[in-house]
Amino acid sequence: MAEQSKTVRLEDYEPYPWKMGETRLSISLHDDHALVESELAFSRKDTNGDGGNIRLEGQELELLKVSVDGRDLNNNEYAVDDDSLTIFDAPQNCVVSVQNRIHPESNTKLLGLYRTGGLYCTQCEAESFRKITYYPDRPDVAAEFFTTIEAERSEFPMLLSNGNLIHEESVGETRHKCTWHDPFPKPSYLFALVAGDLATIEDSFVTRSGRHVQLNIYSEEHNIEKCRWAMDCLKRAMSWDESTYGREYDLDRFMIVAVENFNFGAMENKGLNIFNVAVLLADPDVATDADYWRVEGVVAHEYFHNWSGNRVTCRDWFQLSLKEGFTVYRDTKFSEDIHGSVPIRINTVSRLRDIQFIEDGGALAHPVRPSFYDSIENFYTPTIYEKGAEVVRMLNSMVGDEVWRRATDRYFHTFDHQAVTIEDFVHCVELEGNVDLSQFFRWYDQAGTPNVTVKAERLEGELKLDLNQTCRPTAESAEKQPFHIPIAMGVVDEVGREVIGKTGEEGGYQTKISSKSQISNPNDDGTVIINLTDASDRIHISGVPDNAAISINRGFSAPIEVHYDQPLATRIQLALNDTDGFNRWNASQSVFIEGILEGEGEQPRLLEFEGALIDGLLNEPEERNRSIMLASLKVPTATYVLDSHPNSDFDQLLDNRQTLQEAMAREHFASWTKLLEANGPKKGYELSDEEVCRRSIWGLALKHVCLATKTSDQPILAADLVEKFRAADNLTDRISIVSQLIELSADVDELKQSVLDEFFESYKDESLVVNHWLRVQATCPLPGAVERIRVLGESSAFSLQNANHVRSLINAFAYVNEVNFHAEDGSGYRFIAEKVIELDPINPTSAATLAKTLTNWLKFGNLRQRLMRSALQQIQAEAKSDQVIDVVKRGLA
Ligand code: BES
Ligand code: ZN
Repeated sequence: MAEQSKTVRLEDYEPYPWKMGETRLSISLHDDHALVESELAFSRKDTNGDGGNIRLEGQELELLKVSVDGRDLNNNEYAVDDDSLTIFDAPQNCVVSVQNRIHPESNTKLLGLYRTGGLYCTQCEAESFRKITYYPDRPDVAAEFFTTIEAERSEFPMLLSNGNLIHEESVGETRHKCTWHDPFPKPSYLFALVAGDLATIEDSFVTRSGRHVQLNIYSEEHNIEKCRWAMDCLKRAMSWDESTYGREYDLDRFMIVAVENFNFGAMENKGLNIFNVAVLLADPDVATDADYWRVEGVVAHEYFHNWSGNRVTCRDWFQLSLKEGFTVYRDTKFSEDIHGSVPIRINTVSRLRDIQFIEDGGALAHPVRPSFYDSIENFYTPTIYEKGAEVVRMLNSMVGDEVWRRATDRYFHTFDHQAVTIEDFVHCVELEGNVDLSQFFRWYDQAGTPNVTVKAERLEGELKLDLNQTCRPTAESAEKQPFHIPIAMGVVDEVGREVIGKTGEEGGYQTKISSKSQISNPNDDGTVIINLTDASDRIHISGVPDNAAISINRGFSAPIEVHYDQPLATRIQLALNDTDGFNRWNASQSVFIEGILEGEGEQPRLLEFEGALIDGLLNEPEERNRSIMLASLKVPTATYVLDSHPNSDFDQLLDNRQTLQEAMAREHFASWTKLLEANGPKKGYELSDEEVCRRSIWGLALKHVCLATKTSDQPILAADLVEKFRAADNLTDRISIVSQLIELSADVDELKQSVLDEFFESYKDESLVVNHWLRVQATCPLPGAVERIRVLGESSAFSLQNANHVRSLINAFAYVNEVNFHAEDGSGYRFIAEKVIELDPINPTSAATLAKTLTNWLKFGNLRQRLMRSALQQIQAEAKSDQVIDVVKRGLA
């Protein structure tokens, strides 16, 4: 085991005693090292005439020289250890200069300055600027940066950093250097540098106050045409942020660089965003429809950070959700405005349930604002991001859009160029909305997904609803205080008409609603908001017709788990007819869950009902929202069903889920076939929402047709798929086809392999396609996945040093391939443990993310609990990095 961990606590926060003036950096790149020189201007904050010690963070640095105000320090005037450099008794105002050496050429962790392909790039958030040079590496210390980069001219013609280029010159025969100035003071985590031989596309944007902004996207030459989509997304994001939040861009240039090897999706460095190629490049051959949408979301996300994160930043890393939760909320709304709120909301919520609910239900559960951590790098989690975004969404919906805009204006204005807390943010909403959010704030401090149980009783047109909230104990709060839960609710009659709040209309209902909770009816459209603040409450609604269905948590108004045993027939009624599109999907999910939960050996009871649901969906009139139909026909994962119904038998869930899917396919074969034919490939790739939906429906229909045909006509089916594959003209269809083809049984193994080989051969130079090619095989549910993945992992298509390869092959297996990852013999878990151990010395960030998949044992039965924990122990015995040690320690607690 490595050095003991240092727990950081929110309550121990202390401001930095020094204020920074200019930061001058000079970085000279060489084949076998880089030299860094810095000049840092400090002035003591409490000006009683004294200076004091200056503490700078630094890791893995070779210190060459340190001086203050031009005088080299003696050994007794400073101290260095593995994490810091302290200068003793510095004067009240001074300039500290440091020289140090680093080794980007051998940096496989992809943090700090490193090489990827032919270029150099940086990743500093959260605490990796300290791997470049000694610095007060914390988000509440801001400085104006001047950055000079020097390198060989022929190999690295492009030298980029934040802000504006202010100087360029030759150095000797073969080298050159560029100096960049960023006029906005910023914390070190937003620093960036890129050097390489890059092509660029250029465009421009005029802000609404008339500022001209030059836009550049950079990539390796062979990828540059694939950057056009991202440029288009960028301009739309810039104009959306102006019209929706009144936020204009503030520099003369905005640059994005695409890099092959990157630990994350992308990073919002001031004026110089750095992107993983996988979330920036797009053309129909290398990106699926989902990838196009992802690029759009990530480009917007990083751009939006310019205000929510960069201009107003976090006081400390406990406040991470202040920028990430808010910015995810902003990018999601951007996507909703483009593609419609219902399909985007469905995607968002199914992701939340599959990933964040699982985290909240596991050993690593933590609040949206944690109060302690050992390794901040492990807290870039679905809870900070996705749950944080849901909490921001609730704030918005509670005060309405107008107040929301005033509150965010106030926030950006009041705290511009400051480093602030989540309280500061919420307080702006309180002031503008004239509301008390002290109870609401528990969403930030208490972990765990709240469960809300609903019990309904009907008596002669009077409906009584008993609501009850609970939340399991978690590490930071054994006893939960009730949450303030805004639950949107409506009641719909048999033909789908709203029952509440339509009193004026002909044929409408006369309802009255009352409860202890405060109830509002903001849009008078049939949806009321119940503000549940106590542990329980009873709602009375009078004038409700007999067969009315209750549509609860509409639009997923709160990130909760609702338990409500409404009769199946009523849920089907909602799935087909609720006016709330999101809840149509949710109702059909709940019908499927019911089927998956059915007892051992029984024919799932659902099958009696599914006829109505599936027929209803499959045969919907054309004019209805097809994206709801599409999403509603997808069956939830067994992992999510287990999470929401903890004591069930996981093997049974997997079995039932399979039975259900097969029955769906078989018994509606004619409808699926019709759907497949009606939505077949068209010539030429178009990215309209309709076309995206059509391709997705086609993929789903193909899956069900294959599922139904598989057992009878294997070779014919295989031949047909191969033909379709060769005819396909885009990656979306190719992946739909290949994923079905490789699920066929062993008698067509040779054919499967030849198609996979053919696919690889055609695209082996396109890293994005290779990632998909790895992923589709990693997620194939046929038995023997671990062996197949091992073979791929040892092939030349794969490298453990490449973060995208690791994500596509190994993480995808653990996150998506639930049948094989959770294999009863523990082979899936052992495989992951082995890979974590192998990866740990290469890339601790990747290793730690992977290790997290073994920490969700809580809801499983004894056998799997034991197997997962023993895989974690296996890792514990060998792990060296702080990041992996932290995951394992919490994961076993
Ligand atoms: N600030 C993050 C990048 C980051 C992630 C830095 C983890 C350090 C550790 C960036 O804004 C981000 O959130 N990126 C996401 C994509 C986004 C659309 C949610 C990512 O990289 O996955
Ligand atoms: Zn972000």
